[in-house]
Amino acid sequence: MNKKRTKVEPRGWEKIAQAWQKMTSPARPSLGDVQIYGKFIQQIIKSNRHYRVLVLGSTPELRSLVLRLGLLKKIDLYLLDLNSTMIYAMSAFLEIDKAKERQIIGDWLNTPFKDQYFDIVLGDEILINVAEKDRDRLLQQIYRILKFDGAFITRASHVNPRARKFTVAKSINKYSKLYLQHKLTLNQVLNYLFEEVFELSYFRNGQKFLCMDVLLKDLRHQAKSYNAVKAMIARLFIKEYRALLHQHWSWESYGQQIKRFRKYFKIKKIETAKDYLYAYVLPIYFLKK
Ligand SMILES: C[S@@+](CC[C@H](N)C(=O)[O-])C[C@H]1O[C@@H](n2cnc3c(N)ncnc32)[C@H](O)[C@@H]1O
Repeated sequence: MNKKRTKVEPRGWEKIAQAWQKMTSPARPSLGDVQIYGKFIQQIIKSNRHYRVLVLGSTPELRSLVLRLGLLKKIDLYLLDLNSTMIYAMSAFLEIDKAKERQIIGDWLNTPFKDQYFDIVLGDEILINVAEKDRDRLLQQIYRILKFDGAFITRASHVNPRARKFTVAKSINKYSKLYLQHKLTLNQVLNYLFEEVFELSYFRNGQKFLCMDVLLKDLRHQAKSYNAVKAMIARLFIKEYRALLHQHWSWESYGQQIKRFRKYFKIKKIETAKDYLYAYVLPIYFLKK
């Protein structure tokens, strides 16, 4: 993740790792996403030989999935993350005990692996974590370390044109009602609100960045609302997501994303989960060399 294109200090990641516990999809892959990843992985792993799989990042859902597919004996699992705090924190969410994986601290933009080393590279929302100017380099690295018949499987978000219509006030109003009607838990409310505010920030930010601090004034205004539920939601939102409010991410449109992938890979399939809000802006791409 890049804060105005500089790396975030580990202290920032510690806070994100803590916040991660309460996050739901789309920030984390859903069961539907995991099923799609699993389906694509199984299209590659067919024979009885050994396969090398690399997870970029420390996504616990992907690490558990690879091991859960009953492929423990067939797969050598590697993960590459520049932050040991995240690896450590995410390991607490693994569903599989004593995961046999090789954890490597390193940069995706300068991977320490030989050419054509992996059968599969997995990465959940990795593109958005890299500055736009470095995205080609990231894809080149993945291309380099993948075997000739290897696959890169990745969930990648793009701009949501419908987010133009969101406002902080409307979102908080909607979710406070759903909370009072017992249709959503407070944690779901905060997650869904996060998603809308996050997407809206792209259109409200003059530089076309995702950065929620442009909406802080609106959020603070809601935190002072006479409506106690709305005020509570806004206050909790600011408190829970403080670590993320000032971060900058840059987003591409669906078309730009497809064009970038096509520079290096053949798009075999694109599938989208249906089990969470706004899943339609987070397709999973099955890419072959
Ligand atoms: C917010 S997290 C979530 C992303 C991903 N979905 C995951 O679960 O790991 C981003 C992760 O990517 C790692 N990361 C970001 N940029 C990186 C880079 N250039 N090289 C290696 N790891 C990186 C961070 O350390 C962090 O663990």
